[in-house]
Amino acid sequence: MPQIFPRHTNELVRLLLLGGAMLGVALLLGTVGAGLSAWGSGVGVNRAQPAPFSHQHHVGGLGLDCRYCHDGVSESAFAGLPPTETCMTCHSQLWTDAPMLAPVRESLRRHEPLRWQRVHDLPDHVYFDHSAHVHAGVGCESCHGRVDRMPLTHQVQALRMGWCLDCHRDPAPRLRPPAAVFAMGWEADADRRALGEALIAERGIALERLTDCSVCHR
Ligand code: HEC
Ligand code: HEC
Ligand code: HEC
Ligand code: HEC
Ligand code: HEC
Repeated sequence: MPQIFPRHTNELVRLLLLGGAMLGVALLLGTVGAGLSAWGSGVGVNRAQPAPFSHQHHVGGLGLDCRYCHDGVSESAFAGLPPTETCMTCHSQLWTDAPMLAPVRESLRRHEPLRWQRVHDLPDHVYFDHSAHVHAGVGCESCHGRVDRMPLTHQVQALRMGWCLDCHRDPAPRLRPPAAVFAMGWEADADRRALGEALIAERGIALERLTDCSVCHR
């Protein structure tokens, strides 16, 4: 058979085929790896909760503000979870017989708090503070995603150190004006970096300090 292509082309084809196969394996490993790390970090996992609380209904549907239930978020390190009484301001009148709400009524009757399972939980060697982020103009959505679309709450970020540091190195394009911090689906109508830089100057945020180990490990 006459040789149509010069000999070294076969080498090239073999290399390409080999490369393709290696890429396939790499992609497969990558997918499995990503799946494992998502599993390991709790991303996308719903916890079994004492009552099936839906942010989609209460935030997306009814339009309740985060602070109605997470009232520590602007003043303290912890956002806090609502006591049963907060639920009962509405549910003593609404859906009073719903079986789904039986655990909430029980909790009130017995004076025992609902034991919500944690969705996010950083290791003990990491320090985090909600109020610092709220005051700096970091939206809840930047870290928790579209909570208003979650029928059951799940984690959207793996909360790895590299992810925290990415923003700490250059927060400007991720900051929002104070009025938009609690909003879901907000988009800047002006240049976001310029807006962020103005906020950093206005609030005197010391950027050099934000990557010090001692900020998060105290
Ligand atoms: C009507 C009360 C209510 C409102 C309003 C509300 N939440 Fe929640 N939130 C809860 C309850 C109850 C839980 C615990 C159950 C769960 O994880 O779904 C919770 C859990 C969470 C969690 C997971 C906490 C963990 O364990 O790590 C996040 C994040 C969260 N809320 C963010 C928000 C944000 C952001 C808003 C505003 C856009 C908001 N919530 C508004 C009641 C509320
Ligand atoms: C401001 C009033 C209000 C508060 C506060 C409130 N709810 Fe509701 N909740 C409603 C209304 C209205 C519905 C019906 C929503 C619908 O059908 O769209 C509802 C529905 C529910 C349901 C039925 C399933 C669903 O989501 O439709 C559950 C369970 C529930 N709420 C749990 C809670 C818990 C737990 C709390 C406290 C953390 C709470 N609610 C606080 C008004 C409230
Ligand atoms: C910079 C990222 C970031 C932002 C912004 C942020 N959170 Fe969180 N949130 C976290 C982390 C990390 C945790 C887990 C903390 C831990 O395990 O100690 C958490 C935990 C929570 C919890 C569980 C209770 C607690 O305090 O540990 C709630 C509720 C919550 N966040 C609500 C909110 C709301 C509402 C907003 C917006 C006002 C918000 N978060 C903004 C990162 C963030
Ligand atoms: C989207 C941006 C963003 C992300 C993501 C983020 N941060 Fe921050 N963080 C900031 C900004 C901006 C400040 C500066 C606040 C100030 O100095 O007023 C800050 C400040 C802090 C502080 C200092 C609070 C104080 O006492 O001054 C701690 C602690 C912190 N972040 C921890 C974390 C951890 C841990 C994570 C990851 C789980 C994280 N942050 C993720 C933007 C972010
Ligand atoms: C903005 C917050 C932040 C800063 C700044 C930061 N870390 Fe971390 N660090 C984290 C978080 C969140 C974790 C836990 C998640 C993880 O392991 O990725 C962590 C975990 C670690 C761990 C444990 C890793 C493991 O595998 O368990 C070490 C060690 C560490 N950090 C060292 C450092 C050192 C050294 C510095 C300074 C150069 C530093 N960190 C700065 C947020 C931070």
